[in-house]
Amino acid sequence: IQALRAYPDLELPTVDLSTAEPTSTPLQRAIAIARRHGPFFAQRFHERETTFVTSLELVEEISDETRFRKGIGVALENVRGITADGLFTAYHDEPNWAKAHDILLPAFALGSMRTYHSTMLKVARRLVDSWDRHLAQGRPVHVADDMTRMTLDTIGLSGFGYDFESFRRSDPHPFVQALVRALAYSQESLARVPGVDYTEHDEAFQADAAFLAEVVDDVIDKRKADGDTSTDDLLGLMLGSPHPVSGELLDEANIRNQVITFLIAGHETTSGTLSFALYYLMKNPQVLRLAQAEVDALWGDTADPEPSFEDVGKLRYVRQVLNETLRLWPTAAAFQREALADTVIGGRYPIKAGQCMVVLTPMLHRDPAWGDNVEEFDPERFAPETEAARSPNAFKPFGTGERACIGRQFALHEATMLLGLLIHRYRFLDHTGYQLRIKETLTLKPEGFTLTLAPRTAQD
Ligand code: HEM
Repeated sequence: IQALRAYPDLELPTVDLSTAEPTSTPLQRAIAIARRHGPFFAQRFHERETTFVTSLELVEEISDETRFRKGIGVALENVRGITADGLFTAYHDEPNWAKAHDILLPAFALGSMRTYHSTMLKVARRLVDSWDRHLAQGRPVHVADDMTRMTLDTIGLSGFGYDFESFRRSDPHPFVQALVRALAYSQESLARVPGVDYTEHDEAFQADAAFLAEVVDDVIDKRKADGDTSTDDLLGLMLGSPHPVSGELLDEANIRNQVITFLIAGHETTSGTLSFALYYLMKNPQVLRLAQAEVDALWGDTADPEPSFEDVGKLRYVRQVLNETLRLWPTAAAFQREALADTVIGGRYPIKAGQCMVVLTPMLHRDPAWGDNVEEFDPERFAPETEAARSPNAFKPFGTGERACIGRQFALHEATMLLGLLIHRYRFLDHTGYQLRIKETLTLKPEGFTLTLAPRTAQD
């Protein structure tokens, strides 16, 4: 950080990063800057200036959908290189956004999770089988890698009837490898220095984008070849379900963009959430005990419980654990809001029409409104009475408004069930005295987090 100056007219602290060391953790750097400079600041990098917002007071205001909408900033512009007008990266007024949103929304209502439940359970068992083998051999498990295997197989199978068979592979599926590189490219592109030649990076990205499209075309072709015209999964809906008003179907290029979007959005974030949740449970035995009491009350000492759809809804404390995890480390840690017209926020900061602001969610989730122990992991914050007393805008891990996460129920059903099963079955041993390090590839996950497992006994 080379310079800090305050615009006298805007009261906007601006940190110039143009000559700062490149970092692989831009989000954590922005958090450090927010801690120093407060809830509204800008980062300058050469010609580009990015405005950040972190306080509840300002987020309350910019959540107003009559004045602001989702912004597609530089990071998402880069991701458009692989997902174009897919739901996540579509511009708000791109016609395919509303079209696909209307067609796909019913597939994500809470009741629709019934359709995915048995597939989620089947894949959860793959993870449990793999962890049982590790336990038997006394080998540690690599938490984030296995969670990624689990969530990728779940969205592949329940969304598209495609089996990535991730637990049969020692390395991540090539789709995941290409995806991780493509997301890293999108993140690194934020730190491009004018005048430097990035052709090699661009070509590697193009190759990865082409490979991702190839895998997806394969998934689509396979479905078409099967002659299966049912509309009970995402791909079925995309191929065969007309828009409820216009009667139009999604076009082929858009279906491809949606499938890549769902394969990305549908697994990285949930996998990171589960990994952080296990980290916090391992480090907070009193919380773990409460979660164990909840799953034990439901499943007793059955060795292999068969969670029903309704059971998952009963795991309220496990859900609180996941919410508190998403408070501290929301795995999609920022979203952007764009002003619809020239305006002023917080009664003092002028914003121009079209200007984007990045909401730094981990800082919003540490706003003083959360109390004075914001770093403490405390799922009681999500007890119903406590939650009801808080502004809904204080907790935004799934974004806001019309463009908030469509897959929220899917993620929470999948994660609650798996976490419940793991808590019921294992003790988690902190064999390395793990200290949290956070890896950023547009999404967040704990880096190098391994644990060893032990079976639970009647005493624990
Ligand atoms: C949008 C977070 C799981 C699909 C979003 C947004 C956030 C988010 C913050 C809004 C982004 C923005 O405003 O720019 C998360 C987290 C998840 C999760 C933290 C897991 C814990 C999922 C899953 C799916 C999914 C499982 C699909 C099965 C999407 C899609 C959008 C989206 C398609 C774009 C919605 C639109 O603009 O219409 N997610 N997500 N997400 N998410 Fe998720």
